[in-house]
Amino acid sequence: MTLGIDWALPRAILREYNELWIVVITYLSAAVMTSVLTYFFLMLTARLAQEMLFDLRNRMFVHTQKLSVEFHERYTAGRVIARQTSDLESIGELLAGGLNELVIGGMFMFFTAIALLILDPVSFLVLLGALIPLALLTRWFQVKTNRGYRKQRVASSRMIQYFVETMTGIRAVKAFRKEKRNEKHFGGLVEDYRKHNAHLIQLFGIYDPGLIMIGNMTVAVVLLVGGFRVLDGSLGIGVLTASILYARRFFDPMEEIAIFYNSYQSAASALEKISGVLEEEPSVPEPSNPVPFENAKGKVRFEGVQFQYSTGPVVLKKFDLEIPSGQTIALVGTTGAGKSTLAKLISRFYDPSLGRVTIDDIDVREVANKDLRREVVMVTQEAYLFSGTVAENIQLGRPGASLEDVMAAAKAVGAHEFITRLPDGYDTDVNKRGGRVSAGQRQLISFARAFLANPAVLILDEATSSLDIPSERMVQRGLKTLLAGRTAVIIAHRLSTVSIADRVLVMEHGEIIEDDSPTTLAAGDGKFARLYKAWRDSLV
Ligand SMILES: Nc1ncnc2c1ncn2[C@@H]1O[C@H](COP(=O)(O)OP(=O)(O)O)[C@@H](O)[C@H]1O
Ligand SMILES: [Mg+2]
Repeated sequence: MTLGIDWALPRAILREYNELWIVVITYLSAAVMTSVLTYFFLMLTARLAQEMLFDLRNRMFVHTQKLSVEFHERYTAGRVIARQTSDLESIGELLAGGLNELVIGGMFMFFTAIALLILDPVSFLVLLGALIPLALLTRWFQVKTNRGYRKQRVASSRMIQYFVETMTGIRAVKAFRKEKRNEKHFGGLVEDYRKHNAHLIQLFGIYDPGLIMIGNMTVAVVLLVGGFRVLDGSLGIGVLTASILYARRFFDPMEEIAIFYNSYQSAASALEKISGVLEEEPSVPEPSNPVPFENAKGKVRFEGVQFQYSTGPVVLKKFDLEIPSGQTIALVGTTGAGKSTLAKLISRFYDPSLGRVTIDDIDVREVANKDLRREVVMVTQEAYLFSGTVAENIQLGRPGASLEDVMAAAKAVGAHEFITRLPDGYDTDVNKRGGRVSAGQRQLISFARAFLANPAVLILDEATSSLDIPSERMVQRGLKTLLAGRTAVIIAHRLSTVSIADRVLVMEHGEIIEDDSPTTLAAGDGKFARLYKAWRDSLV
């Protein structure tokens, strides 16, 4: 540039064009080189960004899935979704748009400053002086937005969480006519989010013009200082022109960098949330040296077990129980007595805080997860079906099972009839129109799944509660087949199931208060006898 003005231009005026050509060609080739290099650089950063995002997304999924039931009961689905969607997206935005801007901008500023230093050290000093207000302004912006983005993340997460919860509980919402109230609450959350965003935009609205002002003032000072030096002849006009251009261009990437910085702050708060999840450890860790566990007999023992949920009081206090292998237990008791907790401890969804739970005298904490899942199966009221066909859903019980085995399992629990009546029989997609199955049918499918799994220990936690009386009768017949030859714990709220049990346990406040055969208990005068009489009377 200086060469162009101070050396080539005067010659060109004298009609000697060679020097001008040299300068122009050098300039042009530099421009082409810049474009080509920028292209490769962009490709590279974009690939890197996409890979990082892909990796983070996968790690989030794998990790959240690996975490224990304890985490999921505490950290709702809505919050997990917020992490996986809006938080990851804000990181994606940063990686996609911002990163290369920062590198290009930073390099651009660095080399511009170096060029200016070589060209005119005095102007360089002026530029250096401008960095002080720049740093102050940036620091202010950083502190303010840091706080702002944290609040914005929380607000965004609350919004998503509420949305997810409302939609998953839509039946309850409708049943209790909660739409109006929800509308208002959600409106409030959206308003909150909007307010935080507006505040952030406001901050940026101060920062950005501030940058422009600092840039312009720097140029003005360079011009002023340079102007005096040109006047007293110590500076060429070309050098001054170039200096001014350099000083101006030095600030060009500032706006991009500010935008980058903004999305950086947003992504940093998002990353904070995400790493919070990634740092969670499964509360029921895999044993490092699992004990071999195959062909279990299914003897279950609780030895001095104490247990409480992280948020609640002690549910079990020094609990002892032995279930011999092959026995069918009916567990009854008032709501909140701790029946499901017992089931979750046998399945090792949670670990006791004191004492131990054993199967065949092996602590369940020493058994590899996959072995335990094979030998202990719990069927709950929810009877969740995955998207896919009915056959696939039953097959989950034993991956690789043949269709004959699947059908045999369905027949054993009495599910075969209704399945053959579905539009595509066993190939009916449970999530497609027409393939929708009722809650009772879902339970039958999950029984078939459990039957196919053929575990040593089977737990049914109110698993027949959404069946009507005729379906329940049907299941009862299937249940006999399902329970034969294995240890079973049936948590039942209808006493009809109790008759097939070898032994009844009545639970109250985390303790077993009655323990005997159903006939003995029914003939006695304890709590079970009273419950049983009331139930029999209700049938008449
Ligand atoms: N995920 C949980 N977090 C905190 N407390 C829980 C949780 N699940 C159950 N509880 C509490 O533990 C106690 C026993 O619950 P539970 O075993 O589900 O009873 P039941 O199945 O007999 O109705 C209750 O007081 C209940 O409030
Ligand atoms: Mg329960």
